[in-house]
Amino acid sequence: MPTLPTRYNVRFIAALDLLRAAMFAVGVYAKASASWLRLGSGACSRRRRRTIGAWCRRPFHGVESRASSSGLQASQLLRMQVVAAPAVQNPAPQFEVGSDGFLYCEEVRVKDIQDALGPEASPFYLYSQSRIEANVRAYQEALAGMDAIIGYAVKANNNLMIMQLVRERGCGAVLVSGNELRLARLAGFDMRRTVFNGNGKTPQEIALAVRAECLINVDSEFDLENILAAAKREGRKARVLLRINPDIDPQVHPYVSTGLATSKFGIRTDQLRWFLDRIRQNEAQVELVGVHSHLGSTIKKVELFHDNVVTMLQVIDEISARGFHSVRFLNIGGGLGIDYERKGERIPTPQELIDAIRPCLAGRDLTLIIEPGRSLIGNAGILVCRVIGVKRNGDKRFIVVDGSMAELIRPALYGAYQLITLTEPGVAGEQMATYDIVGPVCESSDFLGKARVLPLPAPGTGLAVMDSGAYCMSMASNYNMKVLPGELMVQGNRWRIIRQRQRFADLLSGYRDLVALPDDDLEDSATF
Ligand SMILES: Cc1ncc(COP(=O)(O)O)c(C=O)c1O
Repeated sequence: MPTLPTRYNVRFIAALDLLRAAMFAVGVYAKASASWLRLGSGACSRRRRRTIGAWCRRPFHGVESRASSSGLQASQLLRMQVVAAPAVQNPAPQFEVGSDGFLYCEEVRVKDIQDALGPEASPFYLYSQSRIEANVRAYQEALAGMDAIIGYAVKANNNLMIMQLVRERGCGAVLVSGNELRLARLAGFDMRRTVFNGNGKTPQEIALAVRAECLINVDSEFDLENILAAAKREGRKARVLLRINPDIDPQVHPYVSTGLATSKFGIRTDQLRWFLDRIRQNEAQVELVGVHSHLGSTIKKVELFHDNVVTMLQVIDEISARGFHSVRFLNIGGGLGIDYERKGERIPTPQELIDAIRPCLAGRDLTLIIEPGRSLIGNAGILVCRVIGVKRNGDKRFIVVDGSMAELIRPALYGAYQLITLTEPGVAGEQMATYDIVGPVCESSDFLGKARVLPLPAPGTGLAVMDSGAYCMSMASNYNMKVLPGELMVQGNRWRIIRQRQRFADLLSGYRDLVALPDDDLEDSATF
């Protein structure tokens, strides 16, 4: 059961509710559903919504899954949460449940977008442009005065429009496949400031990277041999960084841990000499310009970044002691973790991360590269689903939605927690209950959330999985012949499509020229 902070009495709560209701009556009269092209007729002004947001901020439906399934009315729970709210900072205030009980992305009511698109376009991903911009800014401000490259890790989210946006805001790109490289070129990234990573780059991908003049990370002996061969074939000198495996435990889920001795990534320092000798023998093909290491993803301790930098500087010193004076890039890998739980956990800021390593770099003539993905885009996106129905098996209750492990695999893959909220108020008068939120995919691992306390949603209404900007759409699949969802971007009171959803016809494209495909079977009436 949620506990009421003792310092607030019930009368104060009632007064707060009244005040909120008054603010709501004054302010939330407008539909914030104007699309990019149908500019904000009747949309709330940005200023007014901000004011309302400051006074009427409510946490998400089901933010704290503490209420038991027996007993609490939705309105009671919300009231308690309002009191508790000051202790809980919303890490992405661009996504909030408004005082009207609807989920907003910036100034747009998510349900209005759902209604505009129609049920066949569901589920879809929805992003906040101002959140992405704020996330990039946080790293830029932290790095002020330093020679540094923020290399956006494209694997986190490879939407072309998002890539263009972060490029326009000053980021470089970090790539892990030939197709990411092609896409980065299309997005207009300066390839000379782009890093090509990977423990299993194919010779063809390496040739592409050499031609594009990317910085290339060397991950193994065979990788270096392939780079040398490609450079010779292409008649170009490859600029390489040695990816070091520093054997530091990042204290994260084993599937996103990459810097341990047992990991498949990087080279151990006891092998360093072999690599340096090989590079020395092939100076016409390759120039050693830096070192790289990536401990893992979702890291929330800046001490780990510090320890990594100390280790890497020792490696640089060893390299220069062996006569290499061309090392100018120190690449420290991915960025910070994010607050998926949204229970007010203190997550370090980019400023704290950079402050932890800045003193180590003083007096060193190095360009720092950091490769954030999750912390640039993770809290800037949500997956918006529709409720198909609610069912009960014995004591267990399920909300079955049209989104699944095909569109968002993190819960199934890592047991990852992402907060889930309804996009509109639940059925009036019904009690909150504990549900597993599951999809239609034919697997028992197909769940988006377990044991979440939520109001009862009506069939056809919306449900959003928060913090789905990173490693969600980019890991989506066509399992069960599901199409990849569309993606939309909100900016202020406008929204636009930034990637069309796939169609049935797209799933059949591999059969083109192999079988006759009747046109009428391919029709798909969804609006985008
Ligand atoms: C080499 C490398 N760099 C950068 C990243 C991005 O990490 P994050 O999204 O945690 O910032 C990853 C992701 O695991 C990675 O493998």
